[in-house]
Amino acid sequence: LHTIGRGSLVKCLQKVDTFLHRNIGTNVVAVQEEKNGFKSLNAVQAERQEQAERSVLISCHSRTNEKKFLKYIANYGDIQKYFFYESYGMYAVVEFANQESVASLFEGTAIPSISHESVVPFKSRLLSMRNLDSVDLPNQPSGKKRQAQTSIPINELIQRLSKEESIDQQITSLTEAYQLTEENCRLRFLVCSLLKDIAAGFFPECTIKPFGSSVNGFGKLGCDLDMFLDLDGISGRNATIPKSGLFLEYQMKRANLERIVTQNILSVIGECVDQFGPGKILNARCPLVRFAHQPSGFQCDLTANNRVAMKSTELLYLYGELDPRVRHLVFTVRCWARAHGITSSIPGAWISNFSLTVMVLFFLQRRSPPIIPTLDHLRDLAGPEDKSVIEDNDCTFVSDFSKIQLESNTETLEQLLCEFFEFYASFSFRTLSINIRKGKEQNKPEVAPLHIQNPFETTLNVSKNVNASQLDRFVALCQESSWLIQQNNTAPSRDGTKGKATITPWGVSTLLLPSQVAGIKTRKRRKFEPASERIKSLLESLKNTNQQNQS
Ligand code: CTP
Ligand code: MG
Repeated sequence: LHTIGRGSLVKCLQKVDTFLHRNIGTNVVAVQEEKNGFKSLNAVQAERQEQAERSVLISCHSRTNEKKFLKYIANYGDIQKYFFYESYGMYAVVEFANQESVASLFEGTAIPSISHESVVPFKSRLLSMRNLDSVDLPNQPSGKKRQAQTSIPINELIQRLSKEESIDQQITSLTEAYQLTEENCRLRFLVCSLLKDIAAGFFPECTIKPFGSSVNGFGKLGCDLDMFLDLDGISGRNATIPKSGLFLEYQMKRANLERIVTQNILSVIGECVDQFGPGKILNARCPLVRFAHQPSGFQCDLTANNRVAMKSTELLYLYGELDPRVRHLVFTVRCWARAHGITSSIPGAWISNFSLTVMVLFFLQRRSPPIIPTLDHLRDLAGPEDKSVIEDNDCTFVSDFSKIQLESNTETLEQLLCEFFEFYASFSFRTLSINIRKGKEQNKPEVAPLHIQNPFETTLNVSKNVNASQLDRFVALCQESSWLIQQNNTAPSRDGTKGKATITPWGVSTLLLPSQVAGIKTRKRRKFEPASERIKSLLESLKNTNQQNQS
């Protein structure tokens, strides 16, 4: 550190981060090498699915003796990877080296007989371990193997970020704290795989794939699990139909709308999960079934027939892989938006995370020089193998990352975050539409407070649900945050605070504090009160937390 200097070290580490990110992905482990060191989302999905099929989920006693547990399970085959986590109770995910081990585990598995419950003899890879010697404290799953599946609370994040030394470090640290962990990612694929076992009772060759933020690189710990029931892969389904020969006698029910048929299929699968699986249906409105998967704690949205969403997932993944600044900025903006109630986990007139992500991408396309290319450019680079037309929508874009030439924009994360707020604080939402296909704002084709063109279904507005007051709040917060970050852009000196329990929020931390404009409902702009008031109140709350922690 003394020889090369701090600045160079930071730059060097950033390069390493970029390199690692580009080559293995921050939350995705490389297995299948692709051209130019990148892996396509399809390759990631295939590899993860295969891992998940070799895995089982075991409910166990909270004081399970880790060594004895592993010794017992290892009787059935070599364990490749395992971890424990707590949801409603303790669970272990065990991945065997070979799929045959799962079959041999089933042979050694008993169907329970419980006097007060009716037992459904449905064999699934969700098991429970009973009466193995427990309560052997030194051998309980260690902290390292006990994985948290939720992100840290916002107050804790604010404290953590306040300890960083630059805004760029704060942004990197925020991403690290919020992104899906390797284990959480595995668990998501395992839940899809367990659900597939249920769906396979009806459609033996189907697959269930995660899409949306679980796999697009922008998922936060605790985000929902979007799942896509893929029936197209069933052999012969898309082959040319012969003139004569044998045909399957399909029982076509009288529903001429594909949407209704899809919903019927989803409902049946949802019903099975509800009746025989560890899930509870929350909502079954066309075209999805929403259920809570109790052992993982995930809220799951199962859809079918949603190939365009799969494509937009692939596109977002590609953008996130092109430059590490994309993911960092998206995470920061998403976290900021959630802290101020711009986004919500409940559907409504709010801006969705998907819309917000597209807004960040658009902003990055508008930099000079642009950080990421337009979708039209990605389409022009596509080869014949990339051609994709779904329900008359052109979803073609390049899959070979090595064909994409990036321009040399060297802006720092700090600059980009400030510029993001300025960009949208003064964006002409009244007349213009956000368009990542063209990478340029277009005239609004229809009346809506916020218009973001759907990248593939170009006649649709991604943010149709957003009302004027929600957009106003977003703009007011961008204005306030742009001012705040400029006022608080240097880390306070640590010397005077040594040994004290309080940490002064600064930089990104101040952006996450409660805002003066959060309650704004009208188009009128309010004057901002100095941030010092807010900082003061946060300091009080941090002091209290520290005191509680110490007592
Ligand atoms: N999607 C879309 N058009 C929309 C909404 C969603 O194409 N108007 C697709 C996107 O690919 C999105 C996915 O459906 O990523 C899942 O939607 P959603 O769960 O709303 O968004 P996520 O990106 O998963 O974000 P979150 O973490 O909030 O779930
Ligand atoms: Mg989602």
